[in-house]
Amino acid sequence: MNGLKLVSTGSAMPERVLTNEDLTKMVETNDEWITTRTGIHTRHICSQEESHTQLCLAASRQALARSGIAPEEIGVCLVATFTGDHLNPATACVLQKELGLPEDTVCFDLNAACSGFVYALHTAQCLLSAAPRKFGLILGAEVLSRVTDYTDRSTCVLFGDGAAAAVVEWNAEYPSIHAVLGCRGNTEVLYTPGVNTSSPSYIHMEGQPVFRFAVETVPRCISQVLEQAGLTAEDVDHFVFHQANQRIIDLAMRKLHLPSEKCTGNIAHTGNTSAASVPLLLDELVSTGALCSGQRALCVGFGAGLTWGGALLQLK
Ligand code: ACO
Repeated sequence: MNGLKLVSTGSAMPERVLTNEDLTKMVETNDEWITTRTGIHTRHICSQEESHTQLCLAASRQALARSGIAPEEIGVCLVATFTGDHLNPATACVLQKELGLPEDTVCFDLNAACSGFVYALHTAQCLLSAAPRKFGLILGAEVLSRVTDYTDRSTCVLFGDGAAAAVVEWNAEYPSIHAVLGCRGNTEVLYTPGVNTSSPSYIHMEGQPVFRFAVETVPRCISQVLEQAGLTAEDVDHFVFHQANQRIIDLAMRKLHLPSEKCTGNIAHTGNTSAASVPLLLDELVSTGALCSGQRALCVGFGAGLTWGGALLQLK
C-alpha cells in the first residue's frame, strides 16, 4: 500500500466581505432565512482588481513557505476549479511559471465542481507514485462571484470566493487515502453554461434535488472510505465536509452519529466556495492547531456533475 500525507496548507481570501445584510439590498431576502436555511452569515467576494490567479499564487506561496519544500521538489501541480481566469492555459500552468516549478512538473486543472479537491487528491496519489519527485501542490480555488447571478436570490446568497493550497507527500510507506469517488451525470439540477451556449454563464441550481442528492451520498461515501481503510469514525480526528449547507452537514452527522467537535465548519464566514471549500477548512484546522501532526481528516465533497468524493488525509 502506498499513499499521501498532508505536509502543509495555505489559503487566500478576497478582501471584500459580503454580508447577509448587504444581500438584502440586492434581492428580496433576509438574514433569518439565509442563516436558518444555510448557516451562512458572510462570504468573501473578489473585486474587479482581484483575480483567481492571484488567490492561487498567494495560497500556494503560503503552503510552500510553511512546508519548507522548495518549488524544485514539486512533481505534480493540480488546481481543482471551474472558474479559472482563462479557459486555457490551465491555472496550474500559470503557477508553474510564477512559482518556478520544474518544467517536467505535471500541471493541469480539473473540474469536479465541489468534489474537485478530493478528486485532485486521488489523482495526485496516482500520479506521484510514478513521478520522479514525490511532493505535490494541490489547490482548490474558485471565484464563484463571476458566475453568480446577483438577481437570483435562490443562489446568490450561497456562494463565495477563495483559494486554498496543500503540499502533499507521496511515500510507499504511507497509508492510501482510500478515495471513494462517484458521478451521476446530470445537466439539469446543477450546471453552469459554457462558451458554446447563448445563456449567460451563471450557476443554475435547483436546491431541493441537490439537497436530497447530498443527504443520500455524503454519509454513504464516508462509510465506504472508512470501510476501505478498515477504520471506524472513532479513528478519525476531523470530518472535513464540503461547506454547502449546515443542514446537510447536520443530517450526515446525525446519520453517522458523529460528534460535533469532530465536525468543525467554517460555512458561516465562507459560504459555499465549491472546490475551495474542503481545502479552506483543512487550512483553518491546521492553522488553528485543531488538526495536529499524525491526526486523520476525512474529507468529503459533493456537487455539480453530480459528483461526490471522500478521502482520508493524515497530517505529517
Ligand atoms: N431568501 C428568502 N427566501 C428565499 C430565498 C432567499 N435567499 N431563496 C429561496 N427562497 C424562498 C423560495 O422562493 C421558496 O419560497 P416559496 O415556498 O414561497 O416557493 C422558499 O424560500 C423555500 O425555498 P427552497 O428552495 O425550498 O428552500 P430550501 O430549504 O430547499 O433551501 C437551499 C434552499 C439552501 C438552496 C437548499 O436547497 C440547499 O442547500 N441545497 C443544496 C445546495 C448544495 O448543496 N449545492 C452543492 C453544490 S454547489 C456547486 O456545485 C457549485
